[in-house]
Amino acid sequence: MSKRIAVVTGAAKGIGKAIVSRLAAQNYFVIAVDVDELSGKKLISGYDKNKVRFAKADICNEKIVQKFFEKIIKEYKRVDVVVNNAGIIRDNKIWNMSLEDFDKVIDVNLRGTWLMCKEAAKIMRDQKSGRIVNIASRAWLGNIGQSNYSASKAGIVGLTRVLALELGKYNVLVNCVAPGLIDTPLTQKLEKEVLQKLIEAQPTKTMGKPEDIANVVAFLASAETNFITGQTIYVDGGKSIGAGL
Ligand SMILES: NC(=O)c1ccc[n+]([C@@H]2O[C@H](COP(=O)([O-])OP(=O)(O)OC[C@H]3O[C@@H](n4cnc5c(N)ncnc54)[C@H](O)[C@@H]3O)[C@@H](O)[C@H]2O)c1
Repeated sequence: MSKRIAVVTGAAKGIGKAIVSRLAAQNYFVIAVDVDELSGKKLISGYDKNKVRFAKADICNEKIVQKFFEKIIKEYKRVDVVVNNAGIIRDNKIWNMSLEDFDKVIDVNLRGTWLMCKEAAKIMRDQKSGRIVNIASRAWLGNIGQSNYSASKAGIVGLTRVLALELGKYNVLVNCVAPGLIDTPLTQKLEKEVLQKLIEAQPTKTMGKPEDIANVVAFLASAETNFITGQTIYVDGGKSIGAGL
């Protein structure tokens, strides 16, 4: 297969879905990974079998992640791009946050991303090429009510920087994209008034679209960049600048 092989997690909805669409429109064969089988099957029904395939997998399960990559290598012999996008929120002020909600968010967002990175790193190191793009969040800088989520995303930024150091000499580049407020099923769950306030706090006074993230992921995954690694690229309508009031 002459196409580049890309793996995208959390691919069934929102930002992941847009990343799948963006990469499939280029010269990629995309393996769309998600725990949500129903949405995953719906996603691939819109694609040619030679462009996108769905794989049900929970990125938190080490055995499942290892088996997933074993299967990919057996079938396609290599992995060119891994986009770690799967993530969840369980917001609350720390005094109201249960340990279970802390653990769950760290488990999916950080531990799951680490597990995917570990298997991808071994393959890419041996094949001496590859790109890993991790989806962090502008919220790693801090957000009230997100002590679990911000910590998990800060962990992803740190993880990305270390992997850039460890994998650089093997021609493997590792970067983060830090989205701000993006219109997806995740943010559609927010109360209307809360959402309005968040939009008002944006320098642009707008929300981003999943495609805004997908465009940057596609750039970082492409051969157009050979000298960017360990970086966190904000796609947040300027929110990370701070001092908005
Ligand atoms: N939407 C935003 O405003 C925003 C802002 C900053 C960062 N992000 C980050 O972008 C990423 C995508 O967010 P979204 O808004 O598209 O979310 P979403 O909820 O719309 O989609 C996330 C997908 O991840 C999947 N998923 C969850 N747990 C999984 C697991 N254990 N294994 C495999 N798949 C799993 C879900 O089934 C879902 O399809 C997340 O990492 C999120 O933290 C989103």
